[in-house]
Amino acid sequence: MTPEEFRAAAHTLVDWVADHRARIPQLPVESQVRPGEIAGALPRHAPELPEPLADVLADLERIVVPGITQTQHPAFFGWFPSNATLASLLGDIASGGVAALGITWQSAPALTEVEQVVTEWLRELCGLAPDWRGAIQDTASTAALVAMIAARERASGLSEHGAGLQSVPQPLVAYTSPHAHSSVPKAVLLAGFGSANLRFVEVDPVTYAMRPEALAAAMAADVAAGRKPAVVVAAIGTTGTTAMDPVPEIVAIARQYGAWVHVDAAMAGSAMLLPEMRHHFAGVDDADSLAWNPHKWLGTILDCALLYVRDVDHLVACMSTTPSYLRSAVDDEVVQYKDWGIPLGRRFRALKLWFHLRLEGVESIRTRLRRDLENARWFADQVAAEPGWRVLAPVPLQTVCIRHEPDGVTDDALDRHTLAWAGAVNAGGAAFVSPSQLDGRWMVRVSIGAEPTERADVAALWELLKRTAAQSPVG
Ligand SMILES: Cc1ncc(COP(=O)(O)O)c(C=O)c1O
Repeated sequence: MTPEEFRAAAHTLVDWVADHRARIPQLPVESQVRPGEIAGALPRHAPELPEPLADVLADLERIVVPGITQTQHPAFFGWFPSNATLASLLGDIASGGVAALGITWQSAPALTEVEQVVTEWLRELCGLAPDWRGAIQDTASTAALVAMIAARERASGLSEHGAGLQSVPQPLVAYTSPHAHSSVPKAVLLAGFGSANLRFVEVDPVTYAMRPEALAAAMAADVAAGRKPAVVVAAIGTTGTTAMDPVPEIVAIARQYGAWVHVDAAMAGSAMLLPEMRHHFAGVDDADSLAWNPHKWLGTILDCALLYVRDVDHLVACMSTTPSYLRSAVDDEVVQYKDWGIPLGRRFRALKLWFHLRLEGVESIRTRLRRDLENARWFADQVAAEPGWRVLAPVPLQTVCIRHEPDGVTDDALDRHTLAWAGAVNAGGAAFVSPSQLDGRWMVRVSIGAEPTERADVAALWELLKRTAAQSPVG
């Protein structure tokens, strides 16, 4: 494809994207396709000869779009927001356009230095102390794995450069909340701690936040048994209920044992842009690493996760590789992001953040986040005031955990009722919510914060939930 052919094709595609985004409110929120339907609609073999763009776009429309759950829909209330602002999409297109090979500073100095600048912008916007340094990872899951490796290596005296974990006399132990995102235990396991050395620390039964006394007791018990506390992962905004683990207390306890503290604020991190929400992040400056996802609520299109650390030298000591073909004369003067994480080749992700922040401006993003917080409080008030309905957890952020509890319906019958009405809401296509378990029972998470969601959309959801629950079987 020549640049001129690209120009024509890209104009057509951009028109398609703009039209598509405009009609999303008319599409079903949850994809209605059956398993295998999309794959079955595609040819089994790659084309030997070029096909016209019109045919590809027709299949995009006919086959691909029905297979997308519309997270940019105003009635998307599922999981967590996965906002993909058009401003950040422009940055993603630009990233493909400049086609940078991100392997070293030398291979694309701009890729490194724009990333240094935007991670510094965000550090400042979040009110983090100046000694934090950030890098962009693909996801918070990868960020957690990088943090677990760094924690393991600190606790083991950089054992990777010798006989590795196998030479460490005391088992290293990791601690987190049972409400931590599944990527956290996964990172602990992948970093080699072993499931026998992963502790799920008891949480408060009302707030679902980690109990510091339980953490202290678990660490003391491990030490008494000859094990070494190595890392605690605190969640600011757990996935289930957005519970806020008490970071100042956690850091103080971890410090007694020299354990690393990683803060997972994948969803809540965006709220750090709001000064009135910063109290939730008290103590974070004293942690060792922090991850949060602009690709969730902030709206920088997937994938864009930030990992901040305070001791970059330690991270580099864990992650650095310097084969001769990657060396250059300026290595002592520049940041080499290949040494701050796992992959060598990196995409120019900073461009989508750069476009997003420049084209929208931070103030309009703050206004949107405040809108969502107010909508969540309003929705929680409606549910709490409605007989037969219950808000099950505090609402510090934008996610409201609810249940319809008709008189006399309990236990398994209540679970069946919850799954029935939530399933009916989603199957109807008019809105999408996430059933999830809390204290062993099904409830429904209503996660507010899709970019186009206004108060009227939340009010319409509430009417839909009441109507659907009333019509759903009990027992
Ligand atoms: C608290 C929390 N941590 C981590 C993750 C994982 O994020 P990612 O998909 O970027 O790996 C999520 C995803 O929702 C999350 O809610």
